[in-house]
Amino acid sequence: MIGKDLNYAIQLLNAEAVVAIPTETVYGLAGNALSPRAVSTIFEVKNRPSFDPLIVHTSHLERISALATEMPEAARQLARRFMPGPLTLLLPRSGLIPDIVTAGSPRVAVRIPAHPLTQELLAALDFPLAAPSANPFGYISPTTARHVEDQLGDKIPYILDGGPCRVGLESTIVGFEDGQVVVYRKGGIAVEDIEAVAGPVLVRPHSSSNPAAPGMLKSHYAPSAPVVLGDIRRLLLRYPGKKAGTIAFRAPIPGIPEERQLVLSPAGDLAEAARNLFAGMRRLDAQGLDVILAELLPEQGLGRAINDRLRRAAAA
Ligand code: TXA
Ligand code: MG
Repeated sequence: MIGKDLNYAIQLLNAEAVVAIPTETVYGLAGNALSPRAVSTIFEVKNRPSFDPLIVHTSHLERISALATEMPEAARQLARRFMPGPLTLLLPRSGLIPDIVTAGSPRVAVRIPAHPLTQELLAALDFPLAAPSANPFGYISPTTARHVEDQLGDKIPYILDGGPCRVGLESTIVGFEDGQVVVYRKGGIAVEDIEAVAGPVLVRPHSSSNPAAPGMLKSHYAPSAPVVLGDIRRLLLRYPGKKAGTIAFRAPIPGIPEERQLVLSPAGDLAEAARNLFAGMRRLDAQGLDVILAELLPEQGLGRAINDRLRRAAAA
């Protein structure tokens, strides 16, 4: 059920049930992070492997100190600048966090979402919320309540509707290794903006196949149709007679029906492109296409995160 009833969401979460919640990045599938029972329900509903840890969401910077044992100076600076917002920090976990949340890792991922409804929700609860993106494992993240309903509607009691997500890409995940700032997932805050605060960073995606560094599976964000990257017009010659969809940055592709096209931002605005990406991929994927042909965006700002998602979709 989709609705805007904050009190009902609070009641369910207090009873260790899971609720889909809006954030500025994507919708999350939330449960009491301090309850192994609630957290294991999240893993079940998403069909997510237990070695892939969850981000812990809280409402205020002061509340992070209960979740982590220390906060490097660079983390403090990033937190002051970008929290609440699409930033997740990997910090040494405190004893409060159950093993199941971090998949046994000594680090916990923490984030303060900037969505007003979810801010209100978190402030009303006396525990933080563990929440992965509210999609079945490996599929595209949801950016509307309806996306969640379409895939998980019959598995969860409630979807809190906060409208379409303003950012549209998951949070940027940043950790700290021996004084070095590391970006593990490119996301809603551009790497350049992290560097403007914290100095040069290492960009090093995690792999879920590496148990010491749980994180990103390469085949993620994948529609059911195969995705092929390159120059779209040239690629079209390779798929004659196929029902092809296209993902282009600014300009439509001549000769392709409008409904099979995703134009991310006619104005060439990377933030707008980010906001449109996942909803557009879902729209294309609902049409039973043989193939989706996509071009990469400029490798700068949010374009780097968008390209990362397109490459992952193509790797599936
Ligand atoms: O924007 C977001 O971050 C959204 C919203 C709902 O907050 N959440 C999200 O969660 O994207 P999820 O679970 O779909 O992606 C979180 C990523 C996963 O790749 C996970 O492996 C990694 O963060 N992660 C979480 N905790 C971690 C930890 N303790 N150590 C290393 N990686 C971690
Ligand atoms: Mg996810």
